[in-house]
Amino acid sequence: MTDQTLSNLLKEDRRFEPPADLAANANLQEEAYERARTDRDAFWAEQADRLSWETRWDQVLDWSNPPFAKWFVGGRLNAAYNCVDRHVEEGRGDKVAFHFVGEPVDDERTITYAELKDLVCQAANALVDLGVQTGDRVAIYMPMIPEAIVAMLACARLGAPHTVVFGGFSSDALATRLVDCGAKVVVTADGGYRRGAPSALKPAVDEARAKAKDDGFEVEKVLVVRRTGQEVEAWDDDVDVWWHDSVEQASTEHTPEAFDAEHPLYVMYTSGTTGKPKGILHTTGGYLTGASYTHWAVFDLKDDDVYWCTADIGWVTGHSYIVYGPLANGATQVLYEGTPDSPERGRWWQIIAEKKVTLFYTAPTAIRSFMKQGREIPDRHDMGSLRILGSVGEPINPEAYVWYRHVIGGDRTPVVDTWWQTETGAIMISPLPGVTHGKPGSAMIPIPGVAADVVTDEGESVPDGSGGYLVLTEPWPSMLRTIWGDDERFKDTYWSKYAKQGWYFAGDGAKKDDDGDLWVLGRVDDVMNVSGHRLSTTEIESSLVSHPKVAEAAVVGAKDEDTGQAVCAFVILREEAGDGGADIVEELRNHVRKQIGPIAKPRQIMVVAELPKTRSGKIMRRLLKDVAENREVGDVTTLADSSVMDLISKGMDSGK
Ligand code: WT7
Repeated sequence: MTDQTLSNLLKEDRRFEPPADLAANANLQEEAYERARTDRDAFWAEQADRLSWETRWDQVLDWSNPPFAKWFVGGRLNAAYNCVDRHVEEGRGDKVAFHFVGEPVDDERTITYAELKDLVCQAANALVDLGVQTGDRVAIYMPMIPEAIVAMLACARLGAPHTVVFGGFSSDALATRLVDCGAKVVVTADGGYRRGAPSALKPAVDEARAKAKDDGFEVEKVLVVRRTGQEVEAWDDDVDVWWHDSVEQASTEHTPEAFDAEHPLYVMYTSGTTGKPKGILHTTGGYLTGASYTHWAVFDLKDDDVYWCTADIGWVTGHSYIVYGPLANGATQVLYEGTPDSPERGRWWQIIAEKKVTLFYTAPTAIRSFMKQGREIPDRHDMGSLRILGSVGEPINPEAYVWYRHVIGGDRTPVVDTWWQTETGAIMISPLPGVTHGKPGSAMIPIPGVAADVVTDEGESVPDGSGGYLVLTEPWPSMLRTIWGDDERFKDTYWSKYAKQGWYFAGDGAKKDDDGDLWVLGRVDDVMNVSGHRLSTTEIESSLVSHPKVAEAAVVGAKDEDTGQAVCAFVILREEAGDGGADIVEELRNHVRKQIGPIAKPRQIMVVAELPKTRSGKIMRRLLKDVAENREVGDVTTLADSSVMDLISKGMDSGK
């Protein structure tokens, strides 16, 4: 990490204190840090007591066979009972669990906890009728509709681990996952709505089932929700079952069984450095403890809050912060099926105003795209109900942070930049909204109970003002337990780099600023090396985005004869900037040079209309790198829109 790079970040001197009333009434106060440090096990036991256990544990943590952890040893509980039944039993049955907002305007549905309990029981009974037993895996491939959540909870109720596959994934991706985890049943829908039109899902399941069969694996049953009512062409009477013929006819009575704290809850696939996706395994007691505690602490959840997380349940964020965390906490949520800008660009803000959302959780990529459209759109809506804003998924550029706080949060709301991963199961590093002053761009420090550090290759803790690798130095309850069917890969990927110390290697680069606060720089493979100096793609992107004409930027390190790697940037201009003017490229290069230093000045900047993104909104820098290094562009199948790369490559050829 160069001194130049670090000093640029240290220039960030904006600070936002927590609002006084929030600070006074915050769920978690400053003292919690010390308490957790003094007796970590006691602190986590206290968090586990947020849940209802059929049998209490004998031991908080068994770490006798690292890296295979056992949390709350001997404890028994049912995750679905904790997310649904107990709220009803405690007299909160009439509380709204979900304000469902469908993609078609006016397609709305309110579901109370009592109604959710009935639905989950019916689905559990129907799954049993289809042959699902404790331990069987069930795949869920659905649009963002209540039935998707009902299906997840029904699986949890039966102790049948679910694997939710994002509805935007192809049949190939689905097939790989079905085979890898050996799914007995798939729950799906005829289709979902996307930008006003029905889009089929069931045919992809048919294809995936056929592909799995070629691999020698047979899915037994497919349970189909009728969502759009579109024609379902292929129907196999031996396999396919309508939800309305089974679930909706089933009894609303179902007695939940308690499972061991370490019983598998779900498998979530995520991409690694090799081609084969990793099935991240989460178990019951520790995971639910982590999801519930962090949602309560980081969002300062109160009984009358209306919480909305915009993630899809096909990602871990949807699992921890739509399903398990908020429901374990008995929260009222907005569940939205559609895209942010359909049928019009203000749809999100209109929903916030209408449902009086108080806690809002989204991703930097969305925030930047709203920045690009200008503040007039959100300004049309009264979002005075908001009290805390969250960000997750990638580092949030300081300018996007400030815009989010200012334009969406009316300068009242703390922004919590939450760092975590599919593997960590729950938020690890984040401000506490009633305790921590906000510092744009920094995820600040680990939350109480979590221990992290930034270390060198050799495992030395770096001093304040320096960068290195992010590690978690103590086990935590919601940690992944293994990679499904591949203990060796689990050990190898996360625990071999710092095997001697027994630390978890997160795969991210980070730095400590002069206050000791953490800045996550992104995956270590996104860190460039220019003339022997380490530069973060994120940092240069932030600099570009801070230029008034720039809406979004992606930076890659391209091979360079002179410097090893060179900085190549791709930028989208804000609408009001037009074409940016004749000297736009020089203007931006000098802007970065001025902000970060000569070393960071991009060799090349290309103005583009779109950036290649995955369906979850991550920029695929690998493809941009192909362009920057004049190579044939690689595999584009995971792009949300694969034509984007053609446009970019053409622009490059014409020398623009
Ligand atoms: C990777 C994990 C966590 C749920 C969504 C993504 C990056 C995530 C932040 C943040 C900087 C972040 C990291 C991490 N990341 N949140 N607040 N600041 N980087 O889950 O797909 O497992 O990705 O996302 O690089 O390793 P995921």
